[in-house]
Amino acid sequence: MSYVSGNTLIQHAWQHGYAIGAFSVHNAETIRAILLAAEEEQAPVMLQIGQKVISVMGLKPMKEMIDAFMHDITVPVCIHLDHSRSFEQTMEAVQAGFQSVMFDGSHLSFDENVRITRAVADVAHALNLGVEGEIGKIGGTEDDISVDEKDALITSCAEALKFSELTTVDYLAVSIGTAHGMYKQEPKLAFERLQEMREIVKKPIVLHGGSGVPDEQIRRAITLGVAKVNVDTELRQAFTQGVSEVLAASPDEYVLAVSLGRGRDVMQQKVIEKIRLFGSQGQAAAFVG
Ligand code: 13P
Repeated sequence: MSYVSGNTLIQHAWQHGYAIGAFSVHNAETIRAILLAAEEEQAPVMLQIGQKVISVMGLKPMKEMIDAFMHDITVPVCIHLDHSRSFEQTMEAVQAGFQSVMFDGSHLSFDENVRITRAVADVAHALNLGVEGEIGKIGGTEDDISVDEKDALITSCAEALKFSELTTVDYLAVSIGTAHGMYKQEPKLAFERLQEMREIVKKPIVLHGGSGVPDEQIRRAITLGVAKVNVDTELRQAFTQGVSEVLAASPDEYVLAVSLGRGRDVMQQKVIEKIRLFGSQGQAAAFVG
């Protein structure tokens, strides 16, 4: 199997009550960890390229690095641009062959957010790519962008519906109590709001800040219409833990394939855990033919 539109993946998940894991990539080993986990679990998967890694490695090289690891992968894969803050960058991703793009205009006025997200959607939809927009501010710090807890208000259904209709996005990132990064105290997702969104907005919801959210809350959110769960921090922690284990046992281990290889293995197990939690294991078969 090769690449599949983000919209195709998310629609299937949404209609069948599971979520696609959208896992952030940072280097060759993290790409491999995610692809091998998805293959082992026969799960459709999204690989997200975020702003920090783009600033260090470049958007096109990251995309091409994923291409390089696709030769032995049979499950459906979607490459997604995470939290883009410029129209130009979303177009760069479209040209580079991504299957899904997110324009994050949550820092802009409502009208400006709508205007640019709609412009992205018009181009992306003409090419059958999936489009994600964000309405409401998600708390925490990601890629150097910080949102104070007090600014991370729960998105209203009226606002989400208006945004969804005006922009024509395929899936919607909303603020329902998660934050990027690890939590200082246990998050409490706004389930009533999520339920209302499902009834009123009637589109798949994206849960950002998937790291550190208790499993029961993730499962419940999926039953209420979350069809894409973004996970980054927990995977980076797993990767770093693997590397650290090697260096703690042998401080003179300079063969990077050994330490980074262990990082990959530990991260792969974490991705498998998340795939099972999201219920996407075995779903690859649905996309054959
Ligand atoms: P975490 O780092 O909290 O898992 O969030 C990832 C994310 O939402 C990427 O968009």
